[in-house]
Amino acid sequence: MSSEDNHIRIFDTTLRDGEQSPGATMTLDEKIQVAELLDDMGVDIIEAGFPIASNGDFEAVSKIAERSQNSIIAGLARAIPEDIDRAGEAVKKAKRGRIHTFVSTSPIHLEHQMKKNEEEVLEIIKKTVTLARNYVEDVEWSGMDATRTSIDFLCKCCEVAIKNGATTINIPDTVGYAIPREFNNLIKTLREKVPGADEVIFSTHCHNDLGLAVANSLAGVDAGARQIECTINGLGERAGNAALEEVVMAINTRSDALPYTTKIDTTKILRASKLVSAITSFPVQYNKAIVGKNAFAHESGIHQDGMLKNSQTYEIMNPEAIGLKESSLVMGKHSGRHAFREKLADLGYKLGDNAFQDAFDRFKTLADKKKNIYDEDIMALVDDEISSTSERLKFKSLIVNAGTQGPQSAELEMEVDGEIMKNKSTGDGPVDAIFNCIKSIFPHEASLPLYQVQAVTEGTDAQAEVSVRLEDEGISFTGRGADTDTLVASARAYISALNRLLIAKERSN
Ligand code: KIV
Ligand code: ZN
Repeated sequence: MSSEDNHIRIFDTTLRDGEQSPGATMTLDEKIQVAELLDDMGVDIIEAGFPIASNGDFEAVSKIAERSQNSIIAGLARAIPEDIDRAGEAVKKAKRGRIHTFVSTSPIHLEHQMKKNEEEVLEIIKKTVTLARNYVEDVEWSGMDATRTSIDFLCKCCEVAIKNGATTINIPDTVGYAIPREFNNLIKTLREKVPGADEVIFSTHCHNDLGLAVANSLAGVDAGARQIECTINGLGERAGNAALEEVVMAINTRSDALPYTTKIDTTKILRASKLVSAITSFPVQYNKAIVGKNAFAHESGIHQDGMLKNSQTYEIMNPEAIGLKESSLVMGKHSGRHAFREKLADLGYKLGDNAFQDAFDRFKTLADKKKNIYDEDIMALVDDEISSTSERLKFKSLIVNAGTQGPQSAELEMEVDGEIMKNKSTGDGPVDAIFNCIKSIFPHEASLPLYQVQAVTEGTDAQAEVSVRLEDEGISFTGRGADTDTLVASARAYISALNRLLIAKERSN
């Protein structure tokens, strides 16, 4: 394998490192949906999960491996034989499967976490990479906390990994500590010093603790790395990973300074961002590069004037390049199911029959309440529907008494494992009453560290999008709900967060 070509392999780890973010739990169906879109948009390698972590993770990796059309499917494994066996089994059905195995290399990890010396770590690398090669030809090895590892020891680790069959060498900036100049030097030195470096692909895996993940990844590419590990919306541990949309659009937009290519169909970027945000209930920050709501908005008079004369005055990318279309007035209450299906296809959704019917019913209800229905309305509604299929708890109906004549109360009906249950509760305000009511129907211990409301579009009849975060035993779960009625959206969001908590509990059993 040569590193001289200028094609950059995009390795997406939204389903593994991304899902490790507190609160970002995804169901099997949701992971499959994300994987299908990544496969479709040209991602070279999808890291579909950590098969040893749970039966749910194993199933997700193996189902995605079975279904993937184009992408290589990777399963993560610690440097432990059981992990590697499990990862090998999980990627078995992939057209092209990869085992990604990692071990810590920095002195601080060796001393406090691994309790091993350098010789022992080298022996572990030899054995585990060899074992992984018994399952697949495509083996990636990572030195965890590589950026805080002595260069001489890191060189030895890479050498042993290559000698024993690793085909990709990944250099993680696990704690997001590096700066671009250092990261560039690191990749350059490894490529110069490690015997066999020319035979493998070097890869970057940069975390964003200092906001430098994308800059570091590109600095690594300038030094010869030809794979970037990244996630949609920059999701990931702590401050997250390098954002896929940012590395890809930087390479596309600045081809003069970054003479590289990727296989990504950039017009699917916005759809991927919205899907991942909907599924994880992690909102995308308004001013987020590329996919934020304001990324292509021009507010000030001078900018608007310039834009009207020539869009290139203030726009370095064409919004259509990422799949952003003019916000269009779409449909109203007379639109039928055919038009709705066409609209969904246009927005990039593929729904099964049941999910389509539920989404269509909700669209009709919305059309009765709201005169102007925009793409954003449909996306909020369908994303809400996607994240609530196959869940144990389902919202049914709500009657609320709010205002100055207390006590504020809520009468709520929901489905619990297929059974309709109903109760009435009071509270300190209507939202509190709703949440108390859900608790009375489905008792649980979780606390509520976050409750947030935002409007999907403009106007007083806009849908409200509510995010709710629940915390239980130190782990947090986020849920999202959309409706023209903020209180209904609140109930939906709370129930969605509760469903995620249940999934995580089932997985850990
Ligand atoms: O950040 C990291 O070091 C990782 C490894 C498992 C590659 O995610
Ligand atoms: Zn990571």
